[in-house]
Amino acid sequence: MRIHVINGPNLNLLGMRETAIYGSVTLDAIEKELRCVAQQAGVELVFFQSNGEGELVDAVQRARCDADGVIVNPAAYTHSSIALRDALAALDVPIIEVHLSNVHARESFRRLSVTAPVCSGGIWGLGAPGYTLALRALIDRLRQ
Ligand code: DQA
Repeated sequence: MRIHVINGPNLNLLGMRETAIYGSVTLDAIEKELRCVAQQAGVELVFFQSNGEGELVDAVQRARCDADGVIVNPAAYTHSSIALRDALAALDVPIIEVHLSNVHARESFRRLSVTAPVCSGGIWGLGAPGYTLALRALIDRLRQ
């Protein structure tokens, strides 16, 4: 079983950027934790981050023929990228959208996710543990 984790723009700055909102855990630490959970479960993990919309679309397209499930935090592209939504919609595997912050309790433009409707489910507002929960949920679902 192989799961792809795809992270959007500015998430490379986690732990340094707006820590009151996004917390102090770095993306490297999130990756390490996910690799640990995946290894225990005998699951292979592909972890990716990019600041570029096209690179994220390419990463989602790679997942099409390689992943059994996808976790995606499209970051700011959540609220605007039809290209990313279309790429996600072309996947035939379960997708979980993750946001560290509670996007519904922030600026009104963050309440709209153009990507969520093509995902199987989502987790927001739980910080870094949201990724771990998403991974566990995806593994459970794939094993059903
Ligand atoms: C985010 C929420 C987005 O609105 C924001 O643009 C991000 C991070 C989150 O994880 O809380 O960059 O996706």
